[in-house]
Amino acid sequence: MNKDIEKILIDQSGLEEITTRLAAEIDRDYKDTGRPLVMLCILKGSVMFYVDLIKKINRPVEMEFMKVSSYGAGTTSTGCINLHLDLKRDDYEKLDIVIVEDIVDSGRTLSMLTALFRDRRVHSVRTCTMLDKPERREVDFTPDYKGMEIPDEFVVGYGLDYNEYYRDLPYVGILKPEVYRRNQ
Ligand code: PRP
Repeated sequence: MNKDIEKILIDQSGLEEITTRLAAEIDRDYKDTGRPLVMLCILKGSVMFYVDLIKKINRPVEMEFMKVSSYGAGTTSTGCINLHLDLKRDDYEKLDIVIVEDIVDSGRTLSMLTALFRDRRVHSVRTCTMLDKPERREVDFTPDYKGMEIPDEFVVGYGLDYNEYYRDLPYVGILKPEVYRRNQ
């Protein structure tokens, strides 16, 4: 185990179970739709989860990527979203989109992205997250597909970072507080 990790929260077999279960749920829900299914990866945190998830989906999927950051004040979902890399298509109305995230925290990012694609008149939009921290919610948002609810701990690994490091760990772990206190 990495020396900066206090405890492993989800090991490789736990991650495998999560991606297998969620892929089966997505397969069940999008079977025989006759429409393209776009699996939309939100960079960078969801990359590891996304790759493992889509490999387990049996029906055909399209891979797309976005990079966004959200900001906003107060308790509504009407904050703003920065689109660093956008998804531009000319067939929105034909698409079923599943937005894939590593973690839902305040809920702002997925709430705003969902609203964005509704404005663009996609056929449907749903959300899939590996981790959910409901204690941290600032807007009313519930993901459609959820890997695991976790307590409000500083988690890294399997895509999740602290100052861009630890994304490459093959598990999700709790970071030792001394690591981030060092930089405060
Ligand atoms: C994280 C995560 C989500 C968002 C969740 O991204 O990947 O996109 O924050 O937070 P929210 O529910 O409060 O909106 P981050 O901005 O850290 O970028 P990264 O994925 O590149 O690490």
